[in-house]
Amino acid sequence: MQIAKTITEARAMRSTTPGKVALIPTMGALHDGHLSLVAEAFNYADEVIFYIFVNPTQFAPHEDFDSYPRNIDDDLAKLASVGISKVFMPTVDEIYPPENVPFEIDVPNLNDILEGKHRPHFFGGVCRVLTKMFNIIQPHYAIFGQKDYQQLQIITALVRDTNMPINIIGAPIIRESDGLAMSSRNVYLSEEERTHATALYKALQQAKNLIETAGETDPAAVESAMHDILSAHNFKIDYATVRHPHTLQPLDCIEPNLTGGVVALIAAHLGNTRLIDNMIIASPKNDA
Ligand code: PAJ
Repeated sequence: MQIAKTITEARAMRSTTPGKVALIPTMGALHDGHLSLVAEAFNYADEVIFYIFVNPTQFAPHEDFDSYPRNIDDDLAKLASVGISKVFMPTVDEIYPPENVPFEIDVPNLNDILEGKHRPHFFGGVCRVLTKMFNIIQPHYAIFGQKDYQQLQIITALVRDTNMPINIIGAPIIRESDGLAMSSRNVYLSEEERTHATALYKALQQAKNLIETAGETDPAAVESAMHDILSAHNFKIDYATVRHPHTLQPLDCIEPNLTGGVVALIAAHLGNTRLIDNMIIASPKNDA
């Protein structure tokens, strides 16, 4: 396996990688959700470069940057098992040398709602690190999970509206057998919290049933049903909401036959652990 630790080494690795190249950005502590992005990448590209970098600029001082799980040896073994042979693993100083200007990229409208409202620094940090990584690696494709739905919408806008010649690909959410979306932060859950954590998926499924099967058109009714399920399982809710699938703006009404449907999104705390999940839901069919 070829491992680049500096930007110079990463550029050399890239320039000797033939054909179409996909980049998979991650913060490590890899699970099957991350590894599913590899198979997705090989659907599009001849070669895949995988990066592992716990990005400090997307964490607030009170958040879990220091304690974020780091298992490099495990991660590299998992990557080798799914056919990855090129990894970029820089240090914080390599990506953010002291002389760096702390520029911010704002994506108005998408930045300051939902995750952006609860974690105001988050998307600025994500856009900053990805702009750097895209410029260092210059991939044809970059692969992201729909697990981080708002992040995927923001990166799509960033690349499209700054004219970066990169195709952003969204990949499906990978879940545990009981429905909990895989996440590096699931390791923080106690045994008891882990049993309650399935309520996230249950709340999303309830939203789907209400809209797709029962034909509910009132977002407030769907949101209140999601809140009830989450609260019954001790979740402290940041948001549990039904939104437009691209703009992520609130909806007055879940209109029948809305192209692309709607998206139900949840962020909620179980003890000290903050979890997010989402589900795309078809809008009700209007047979009339
Ligand atoms: P991280 O949380 O490590 O996630 C890396 C990628 O894996 C993201 O695209 C995320 O959506 C995807 N992913 C995580 N869990 C998944 C699951 N259960 N199913 C499918 N895909 C999943 O997201 C980040 O890192 C960072 O913000 C990053 C983009 C790397 C910028 O620092």
